[in-house]
Amino acid sequence: MTRRALVTGGAGFIGSHLVDALVEDGWQVAVLDNLSTGRTENLAQSHGRIEFVEGDIRDRKLVESVAKGCTAVFHQAAVVSVPLTVQDPVGSAEVNEIGTLNVLEACRRQKVNSVVLASSCAVYGDDPEVPKKEDMPARPSSPYAVQKLAGEYYAGVFSSLYGISAVCLRYFNVYGPRQDPSSPYAGVISIFMDRAVKKLPPTIHGDGDQYRDFIFVKDVVRANLLAASATDAAGKVFNIGTGRQVTIKDLWEQFSKISGYAAAPEYGSARDGDIRESLADTGKANGELGFEPEVSFEDGLAAAFRWFEAMSYHYS
Ligand code: NAD
Ligand code: UD1
Repeated sequence: MTRRALVTGGAGFIGSHLVDALVEDGWQVAVLDNLSTGRTENLAQSHGRIEFVEGDIRDRKLVESVAKGCTAVFHQAAVVSVPLTVQDPVGSAEVNEIGTLNVLEACRRQKVNSVVLASSCAVYGDDPEVPKKEDMPARPSSPYAVQKLAGEYYAGVFSSLYGISAVCLRYFNVYGPRQDPSSPYAGVISIFMDRAVKKLPPTIHGDGDQYRDFIFVKDVVRANLLAASATDAAGKVFNIGTGRQVTIKDLWEQFSKISGYAAAPEYGSARDGDIRESLADTGKANGELGFEPEVSFEDGLAAAFRWFEAMSYHYS
């Protein structure tokens, strides 16, 4: 039987890796993306083997037409930048809340049984308790986090009211090839790669002992595939992280080893509102989805760096 998937935001960083994995696995794939931050170059590997629809998740009729006949929908499209949601809470909510609702409604009307939604560890906010467990109270501290939480609540309600399986994955700090380093909101890994390639010392904000749970993009893709086929995950949320903490100081040391550029970092003042420690408790995803990250931090970072070196002329 042909399995058809829709990937919203499929021209983006995470979505495009998901598209490649689905195509490899024999799925028929449709992508809906408005190319606001995504790039068609990200879909080069699957070129000619997918249906690409340039369009917007705010367009309810369009979403429903591309969801028609799908076995699963993977919803990645979003205004991803937290600062942009702070600048424009209403415009971003139209994408992140109403757009998500459009996706869920399209699945309800078209009887798509399986939906996987990209949520974020941002929903935990500034609560200093680590590791983060799914049953901790959410403490959203940005419009972005509120919008992601709203999507989770809608997923729960659609699962219980309409009998579809909508599963939410709270990604931690995702990294890997195709993460756009030219964005003004680039994450620390992209920024440090850029510094290492340009042979310039990075700036560490604060003492560098703050840590994050970095997860390689291909592991996030595997988590999506497991969530789509899970039989008892409807309406549930899962942390998608590694359970391993890496300090920002150690991160630069790793880059020094990989790039051969071992300059001492410069230290600046800590960023306002910076979260000190972020780490996933991975027990629920492991126990209920059978998810275990497979790519070590060292291997993932080396893969990201190789891609960045090869592509850096595009982004300079
Ligand atoms: P990305 O910006 O590379 O991908 C988002 C994609 O959505 C882009 O291709 C963009 O063009 C598309 N898009 C945006 N608005 C759209 C709209 N209105 N209609 C149609 N398409 C639209 O970002 P990403 O890092 O790949 O993020 C994918 C998902 O993962 C997002 O939902 C994001 O909130 C979530 N997430 C990412 C991270 C991370 O560390 N990268 C962490 C937590 C959650
Ligand atoms: C990330 C998201 C943020 C989200 C949060 C939720 C990005 C870019 N940001 O923030 O939107 O709310 O997860 O958990 O993905 N750092 C330096 N030097 C630099 C850049 C960063 O020292 O040049 C430090 C930061 O101060 C921070 C750490 O590196 O302590 C990670 O920063 P960043 O990659 O921006 O991600 P988060 O702060 O985790």
